[in-house]
Amino acid sequence: MTERVSANPGRELHTVGTTRLMNYDIAKFLHITGVAMLMGNITVTAIWKFYADRDGRPSVLAFAQKLVTYTDWSMTVWGVVLIMGGGYYMVLKTGMPLTQGWLLWSQIHFVLAGLIWLFLIVPIQIKQARLARGFAGSDVGDEYRALSRRWLTWGLISTVPPVVATWLMVAKPA
Ligand code: HEM
Repeated sequence: MTERVSANPGRELHTVGTTRLMNYDIAKFLHITGVAMLMGNITVTAIWKFYADRDGRPSVLAFAQKLVTYTDWSMTVWGVVLIMGGGYYMVLKTGMPLTQGWLLWSQIHFVLAGLIWLFLIVPIQIKQARLARGFAGSDVGDEYRALSRRWLTWGLISTVPPVVATWLMVAKPA
């Protein structure tokens, strides 16, 4: 079986057979597809939700709020599944130590982003979705607006760890 060496600056070379290499490449492709889905969704959602909030009409915000939930389920959750599935598959197949600098810190940043999302952002979204279901009249109310500001702030903060993780994965400092 042909041997090929996958050379990446800053990381130990590893030699793998053709089939394993193909599986590795597929896993890496899925991993990066997951990164694109996660990063794409968390950044673009902040932009269109910001403009929906500025529009202020209850019907627009009720629709936007529904889309926040739909896109979380279809893009963020599946992005995370692909990142973890592809990432840990590559680690398992090559025997890279999970504790080496760039891998360890990427995982820490990934978990940090997950905790912010799960314990700060999702509860705000649940409250907003509940309020949006009861929108009546021409105003969404102060509580909804205050929650929107908090959601945007935490949303922006939560994009920092995945950006750092992306850099660590690409640069692979020791
Ligand atoms: C769940 C923990 C994670 C594990 C176990 C993991 C594992 C890996 C592995 C083993 C590679 C392959 C490195 C190579 O072949 O050169 C990789 C590449 C990559 N990872 Fe992760 N990863 C994780 C999380 C993340 C996160 C959260 C992001 C960004 C949001 C990310 C972004 C990337 C990128 C962009 C690459 C391509 C780097 C390159 O080819 O130079 N990873 N990851």
